[in-house]
Parts: sequence; C-alpha cells; structure tokens
Amino acid sequence: MKKKFYITTPLYYVNAEPHIGHSYTNIASDCIARYKRLKGCEVFFLTGTDEHGQKVAQAARAANLSPEDFTNRIVPRFVSVWKKLAISYDDFIRTTEKRHSDAVCEVLKILFKKKDLYLGKYEGSYCTPCETFWAAAQVKDRLCPDCRRPVERISEENYFFKMSKYQPWLIRHIKSHPDFLLPSSRRNEVLSFLEGPLSDLCISRPRQRLSWGIPLPFSRNHTTYVWFDALTNYISAPGFFSDSKRFKKLWPADIQIIGKDILRHHGVYWPIMLRALGLAPPKTIFAHGWWKLGDVKMSKSRGNIVDPEAVTANFGTDAFRYFLLREVPFGLDGTYSEKALVGRINSDLANDLGNLLNRSLTMIEKYFQGKVPEALQEDPFDKPLLSQAGELPEKYFRAMERLAFGLALDSIWGLINAANKYIEDVKPWHLAKQKKSARLGAVVYNLAGILRLVAILIYPFIPETSSKMLKQLGLEIKLEQATFKDLLAGGRFPPGTRINKGQPLFPRIA
Ligand code: MSP
Repeated sequence: MKKKFYITTPLYYVNAEPHIGHSYTNIASDCIARYKRLKGCEVFFLTGTDEHGQKVAQAARAANLSPEDFTNRIVPRFVSVWKKLAISYDDFIRTTEKRHSDAVCEVLKILFKKKDLYLGKYEGSYCTPCETFWAAAQVKDRLCPDCRRPVERISEENYFFKMSKYQPWLIRHIKSHPDFLLPSSRRNEVLSFLEGPLSDLCISRPRQRLSWGIPLPFSRNHTTYVWFDALTNYISAPGFFSDSKRFKKLWPADIQIIGKDILRHHGVYWPIMLRALGLAPPKTIFAHGWWKLGDVKMSKSRGNIVDPEAVTANFGTDAFRYFLLREVPFGLDGTYSEKALVGRINSDLANDLGNLLNRSLTMIEKYFQGKVPEALQEDPFDKPLLSQAGELPEKYFRAMERLAFGLALDSIWGLINAANKYIEDVKPWHLAKQKKSARLGAVVYNLAGILRLVAILIYPFIPETSSKMLKQLGLEIKLEQATFKDLLAGGRFPPGTRINKGQPLFPRIA
C-alpha cells in the first residue's frame, strides 16, 4: 500500500489578487508534492482561500459588491494563477463552502461542550488589517505592534478559548518533537513566546460589528473569528466532520507550509485547537521567509506587490519556479528583482542546462542520424563523471527530505556543469573527425544518460521543462505516474531511441 502524504498551504485572503509571496508558498508546496508522488506516496495536497472576516468584508464594500459576489469574483483569479504556475493541488477549499462551515460549527460545539469556550468581556485594541487583538501593554502610540498602523479601541462581549490550559502540553510537545516546528529558529521563537503567560484567544466577533463569517452555533449574536474559522480548513477538507474513514487515513498532516508571518497562529493556536479536540498535531510545520522588494516585505496592504502572471507571461512558469526555489535557501528571506531572475535564466537555464541538452541532441543528430548510440566502449576518463551521476540521486534525496531546495538544485547543476566540462575536455568533434566512432558513441551515450537523469530529478521544480526534455530525448516517460524507484533502477537509456530535437528550452534574454 502506498504511504499517504498530506501537505497543506495557508488559505489565502481574497481581499486582493494573488502575488509573488503567495506564489512562493504554493510553488514550494507543489515541489514537495511532486517529489513525494515520485517517491511513491499517495499525496493529498490542499490549498484554498480564506474568505471571511473584516478585511474581506471591507474590500467587498470598497468594490461596491456583496462579500459573496466579491469573493466569487476573486477566487477564480487564484485558481487561474495556480494553473499558470502548474500547482498540482488535489483539493481547493474555500472557507465559504458548506463542507467547511459545517466542520467549523462541529469544532465549536465540541469545544463549547468541553467548556473550553467561555463568554467574557474583551477590552483592548484591535488591528483590522492584521485581524489581531492587542492588550493595552502591547500597544504604543495607538499603533499595531506588528504592522504599525492605527489600532481601534474596543470593548465587547465575546467568546474566549482557554488556550492557557494547554500551554504546558504545547511546550512539552515542541521540546520533545524537534521536527514539529521548522526551521529551528522558528521553533525557538515560539518557545520563547511561550515562556510568558498565554492569554486566552478571543474566537468571536459581535455579529452587529462583523456579519461576514460563520455564526457561532451556540450564539447567533456572534461571528466566528476568521483565524479560528480558517485554521479548521486543514481538518475540514480531509473530512473531519463528513468522512471519518478518510479523515483517519489523512490526519495528521505530514507537513504544513506557511510563511513566517503566520507562525504564531500555526505554531500556537492551531496545535492547541487540535489538542482540545483530541486530535494529533501535524507532524511538521515549516515557516518560510519573505520575499521583499528592496528592504520591505511584499504585501497587498503595502501595495508593493509583483504580479506572478505578468512575470510568467514574460519569462515563463518554469523560469519563475526555478528562480524562487533556487535563489534563496528555504526558510530565509529573499529580495525579488527582475535582474536577478534574468541572471538565473541566462546562466543556469539557458547556458548550463539548455546548452547541455542542445549540444548533446545536436551530436546525436549529426553523428548518429538522430538515434541514441549504444555505449560499446568503457573509458577510465569517464569514470568521475559517471560516478558523480551515480551518487547524485542520494545526494538529491537527502537535500529534498530536508526541504533544502537550493542544495538539491546545486547537486543537479553540479552534474550539468561537469557534463558541459566533459564535452569541452573530450572534444567530440575531434573524435568525429578522427572517425573514432566507438568512443564518440560512448561519449554521446553518457551524455544522454545524464540528461535523462537530470530531466527526472528536476521534475518537482520545473515540470514543464522536465517533460520537454524527455520528449526531445525521445523518451516516453510520464512522470505524473512514475516513481523514482522504477526510473532509477531501470535507469539505462534505451540505445536506438530516436530523439526529437526541438526548440532550445530557454532562449537567452538580452
Ligand atoms: N488567510 C491567512 C492564512 C490562513 S491559513 C489558515 C493569511 N493569508 S495571506 O493571504 O495574507 O497570506 C498567506 C501566506 O502568503 C503567508 O503566510 C505566506 O505563506 C504567503 N506570503 C504573503 N506575502 C509573502 C511574502 N512577501 N513573501 C513570502 N510569502 C508571503 O495570512
């Protein structure tokens, strides 16, 4: 039986269009999902949209639309961007769907019955853009401590969730599960936050102030807090309320990918909600860094966003995916610039990978009438290159298991560069002139094998390029249905294969 692998992304707010920051989370998650499928897992990859709450209600008002009409208009934009970026999700959940709101009501009822929820008075400050309450001591100059925008003073009756009750458990869990919060810097951040007393979480808003959301099942005068609502998606989609058999199979999630901006919600509120429900926490929550423009985080509210559709229209989906995953170690912040993107396209994709493929296919056409020759001759000169190729999968797997995307790509490019150097060193054009066809055949065969391996290993990162490469190499491999195990075990390139030399993969950008 296949091993299940459940991976989630955050649900994106639909108060504006998707940008590069959102794309990054989904591209990274997609890379993991594709990798795990090739590893032979049965993957359930979940993404979706967070549609309730004040922010979305305000954006709808500003657009002169009802929240329903507004969200129905924006959600297809997300779906279309994910399609352009080749995000292979298995389910897309909207928090406005019944399957979700039913599960949220169920969760609320369970916690209410357990007396983990109680009615209290909330007095303090509220930051609408962050949808966050702040205690008086945390707020200076009436500005939100996180985003520095003005907060509102409010006093109202609301429901609270007894988070403090679970604080000692959470600390113990984090300490005893080193992979629960990654990278470790984020784990330390959460642990140091938990050194102080944990306030109970206000999980409702008075309905007269905010009606756009799920009503509390035990108080029609209150709307569920948007974060409590949205976090529940991770269990509502796999069937917490609707399909217990499926839920049992899928939960706990194997990895939840988030940005570091929502670490507290996922590293503190979420595991406590699960604990209160008697459910296991996810195995790993990984918080990646931010993409910035200059020194500033890219965000809708700051208005400094880059549109992923425009970037892919200009440079292609795979170039964009490659850039985001290669440029910055996963977990750290990065600075986005078109110059850096073009630099990567020209050097790594056009020069290194594109040239290797193009030169190799040209030699097969020119010297072997378009058919991959049989390698009849072994030569000690080839040994280092062939052992580098032989060792690559293990190196790559090790990096991928740690989500070290940059290192995984480095290891592949190490082989690509070694193969390009090999061509320079053996000078196949001299071998052709000297009519050393057996040696020439072996050289070309080695290159074909390396290209096959590269095409397989780059699939999680740049799937379209991978299938174009396989096609040009004349190989009929459907990576969507294949496994590394089968591909690498029977890893010989079938001699006699007829290639289809096509267009260069990545033309240089001037
Ligand atoms: N709706 C909440 C999440 C609820 S999950 C139950 C939310 N949405 S968001 O649209 O504001 O952002 C979601 C995610 O987008 C962030 O956590 C992060 O993964 C990604 N990013 C948004 N801006 C980003 C950057 N500038 N850089 C990298 N990722 C960023 O928070």
